[in-house]
Amino acid sequence: MLIVKMTDCQGDAARSPMELYEKLTAQGDKVRSLKTAKAEKAEIDAAVQLLLKLKVDYKQATGQDYKVGCPPSENSLTSENGLAADGNNGDDEVNPWSVSTNNAKGVDYDKLIVRFGSSKIDQELVDRIEKVTGQKPHHFLRRGIFFSHRDMHQVLDTYEKHKSFFLYTGRGPSSQAMHVGHLIPFIFTKWLQDVFDIPLVVQLTDDEKYLWKDLTLEQCHQFAVENAKDIIACGFDVNKTFIFSDLDYTGASPQFYRNVVKIQKHVTFNQVKGIFGFTDSDCIGKISFPAIQAAPSFSNSFPHIFGDKKDIQCLIPCAIDQDPYFRMTRDVAPRIGYPKPALLHSTFFPALQGAQTKMSASDANSSIFLTDTAKQIKNKINKYAFSGGKDTVEEHRKYGGNVDVDVSFMYLTFFLEDDHKLEKIRQDYTSGALLTGELKKMLIETLQPIIAEHQEQRKQVTDEMVKRFMTPRPLNFNL
Ligand code: TRP
Repeated sequence: MLIVKMTDCQGDAARSPMELYEKLTAQGDKVRSLKTAKAEKAEIDAAVQLLLKLKVDYKQATGQDYKVGCPPSENSLTSENGLAADGNNGDDEVNPWSVSTNNAKGVDYDKLIVRFGSSKIDQELVDRIEKVTGQKPHHFLRRGIFFSHRDMHQVLDTYEKHKSFFLYTGRGPSSQAMHVGHLIPFIFTKWLQDVFDIPLVVQLTDDEKYLWKDLTLEQCHQFAVENAKDIIACGFDVNKTFIFSDLDYTGASPQFYRNVVKIQKHVTFNQVKGIFGFTDSDCIGKISFPAIQAAPSFSNSFPHIFGDKKDIQCLIPCAIDQDPYFRMTRDVAPRIGYPKPALLHSTFFPALQGAQTKMSASDANSSIFLTDTAKQIKNKINKYAFSGGKDTVEEHRKYGGNVDVDVSFMYLTFFLEDDHKLEKIRQDYTSGALLTGELKKMLIETLQPIIAEHQEQRKQVTDEMVKRFMTPRPLNFNL
């Protein structure tokens, strides 16, 4: 189905920008009418794929992003940095519930930094982390996968003065099935825990998922425990890590609840409406939930770990879509006498179909699950991973592939640690020496052992271990 459709756009390189523009507009209309008519998913998918491909060709031909109602301008190639050329990116949607963009390269993260008012993780910060820890920076830092921060310099200042900090991250347990994208923050958090040698708290928001999804409390709680096994399998040190389910811990911890109430008193409905887009018909559980995600940022929410110390600096590694929660937290913190948490933000892990959206556990074909077999991994990548390659071998050899939109290449930047190998793949694919099938094969061979290893580690996680991680207890660390 897909291949038949793709042939439609052969030869587009030869079209004029205006012809391409018209073709794109027609294709956009077609996608919309297929969706309205609730056409078959495969048909819609094929139409969307063609639309994406046309957008890439259009960008290549004009240097502009395609925008509905804005035909290519004369000076298209010179307006690359101008407003007209990138107006499209204003459509990026990034919030805790939805991530999408019209741009095949994915969300424009530099723009997000400006919009959210965070700071870029630049080379200077990466170098400083290397200097302070004495370790080679993780490839997620070297490659801009963790790309934005708040107050990381301050965290390092404190650390250099031999004062410690703690890590806080979390996961919303909406299903049993975790995919590779869910591992990104945990892989990185594990690295941070190792290089800084500091305690970590992991919040499993089973309460959040109950409020937002059509699930029972017991299902959410069970998913939390199951997800904890995948998190533990990442190799966290039980002596330095506390994992908790909100449903279990918040009710059992007077100090945690005191902080929740303090936060609730200092945020108005108007503010959360502005930050999260809640409306009058959202249940009150949702409206007050942000206070629960904020509370772990404060050390005295965990008296078994930090006693009554309320001033231990917190660092939160998370995907950028979680930032709204912590903008709110940072706003409240000084007003209730606590330090603001610092943050390290990651980009999203793209869906197999393309970087316009992130991987989603609810769409089995968009994701590679941690439970997938070697064969499933191979089939999904071969079948679904959006390719930046050309339609025929001849064209590919002649013009080369586009790594900026190629999902297999993007995944390799996450999972292939060897910088030299990755750079060689980039060059060979761009020049056309490396074909899409060969690139996919490299990704398959990189991912299969990583997932197999994860499955092996997860098998070793006993119920007893889960219980240990999830029991409130003192942790081992020097402040
Ligand atoms: N709300 C997050 C989710 O749905 C879970 C979460 C809670 C979290 N606390 C966090 C994520 C802190 C990152 C950091 O996945």
